[in-house]
Amino acid sequence: MEIIVERTPADVAVTAADIVAAHVTGAERPVLGLATGSTPLPTYRELIRRHREEGLRFARCRAYLLDEYVGLPAAHPQSYHATIRREFTAHVDIPDAAVHSPDGTAADLAAECARYDREVTAQGVDVQLLGVGTDGHIGFNEPGSALDSTTRPTTLHPQTVRDNSRFFGGEDAVPRHVLTQGLGTILRAGHLLLLATGAAKAGPVAALVGGPVTTTCPASVLQLHPRATVVLDAEAAAGLG
Ligand code: F6R
Repeated sequence: MEIIVERTPADVAVTAADIVAAHVTGAERPVLGLATGSTPLPTYRELIRRHREEGLRFARCRAYLLDEYVGLPAAHPQSYHATIRREFTAHVDIPDAAVHSPDGTAADLAAECARYDREVTAQGVDVQLLGVGTDGHIGFNEPGSALDSTTRPTTLHPQTVRDNSRFFGGEDAVPRHVLTQGLGTILRAGHLLLLATGAAKAGPVAALVGGPVTTTCPASVLQLHPRATVVLDAEAAAGLG
């Protein structure tokens, strides 16, 4: 695992954008794995800036999201379908139809997850952006997720419901059920790029980098990947020896 410690979240965004841009310009048909949540937002803003000011082109890219809430229609502002468009893809030249996410309103959620897993795996993600939850989750693989899990419906940990209530104006409005790429699915990407900023991430970062590979800290599976890069700000790196 490669660990890069930067000073501020803005520095993390520049380094992460460098890595993503190298994949975007280095492949014939780049496949981007995108995360939502707060952590990658400065990176998306930096990529949008490079698109506008430096001609970084995403037209040949396809993108796959990690996860989605069950029951939120695509048009709901907090669906990840809508969020990734609002925060990133609508501001660059990637075709809208090339931005994929699992359908949290599908009648048969298990079948939708199996379909999505097959598609993500067949396309082959070149670089997968990841954040980490305060409980160590990646995607929505909460503690206890099998290390070889595939895309599936699952239930959020109460800590994640609390963490994500800021997007919904209160805990009661946060959907409890989600669809997520599995840890096994995520591990198939060519390059894993996990970003963490802020003091609340120091604990999970110390566990994922220096602890055992364990379902108690799902992000620790990065230790099993041949090409994993972790980019941290000083606060998130505070627990590293
Ligand atoms: C979101 C996702 C989650 C977040 C994690 C951290 O698509 O997969 O694993 O990356 O919950 O969220 P933030 O960045 O908001 O702290």
